[in-house]
Amino acid sequence: MKKIAVFTSGGDSPGMNACIRAVVRTAIANNLEVCGIMQGYKGMIEGGENFVEMNSRSVGNIIQRGGTILKSSRSKEFMTPEGRKKAYDNLIANKVDGIVCIGGNGTFTGAEIFYNEYGIPSIGAPGTIDNDLYGTDFTIGFDTAINTAVEAIDKIRDTADSHGRVFLVELMGRHAGFISLAATIAGGAELVLLPEVKEDHSKVVNFFKGRSNSKKSFSIVIVAEGNVEGGAFKIDEMLKAEIPNFESRVVILGHIQRGGSPTAYDRVLASRLGAGAVEALLKGEENKMAGLMNNKFCLTPFYDSIHSKKELNPDLVRLVDVFNC
Ligand code: F6P
Repeated sequence: MKKIAVFTSGGDSPGMNACIRAVVRTAIANNLEVCGIMQGYKGMIEGGENFVEMNSRSVGNIIQRGGTILKSSRSKEFMTPEGRKKAYDNLIANKVDGIVCIGGNGTFTGAEIFYNEYGIPSIGAPGTIDNDLYGTDFTIGFDTAINTAVEAIDKIRDTADSHGRVFLVELMGRHAGFISLAATIAGGAELVLLPEVKEDHSKVVNFFKGRSNSKKSFSIVIVAEGNVEGGAFKIDEMLKAEIPNFESRVVILGHIQRGGSPTAYDRVLASRLGAGAVEALLKGEENKMAGLMNNKFCLTPFYDSIHSKKELNPDLVRLVDVFNC
């Protein structure tokens, strides 16, 4: 292996830059050439100026920055055989013989198909705030995202307390509740509605119907975006329809969770996974995702990282109810 390429794809996450830096510097330390591909799979298909030669200075002063210096995209064209053929031709034209892809579910789905068609060795580093990939305890960006969410919840708590209101706070996570569950525990929210735990929403209504008997003057409810079609607004509508004069507000935290300077945890995680991905390629590994399980570096086939279900920690789910008294 003489030259590798690195790119970021899908939803950006804080720590992607730290990972790019680790990939580039580990490659150089091992006498590999390295290029960055701008805009993920889109740039791989378009070629030309999207392929950028990188050296150790190209990744200076980025470890603390959110977003991704290589930019990102969600490419529909890469889902077609024609798009992947163009991408392959561009990799060959740029003499790339190994790939490190940084991204989430969609990125590794594409990487798996591409590897099976063209056989270019590829290792993934899990970069997504959602933490929904099997084969790693944490994904790059998750820790920063939950800290952002908790900071917001702390602020919402001040105004909720002042006005004695219920706040429904919707957090990201697509089909997964990892962000919502962690933020509920850390932010001291009373209830959480998760995509993984299918509950009758009348439970939420009943909770607030009986609320006048409790001493609590305000409440924070976390709604994971994948829990119900319509999200927190839908739950709010239901509560208002059932409970007269229900005093509530909805906050959709949205893409704020994707930005910001990565936490120290995410920087260390990203550095270990980026370096580990390059070292894995050098050892002849391919078609796998790098991860940390129980703080140990490990590799999981892309297929399993995408298709096996990562479970929520049942102990955290249980504790939400324990604390809610
Ligand atoms: O996968 C990361 C994520 O932020 C999800 O939590 C969210 O559902 C989705 O991306 C939003 O995607 P987009 O930025 O394309 O709207």
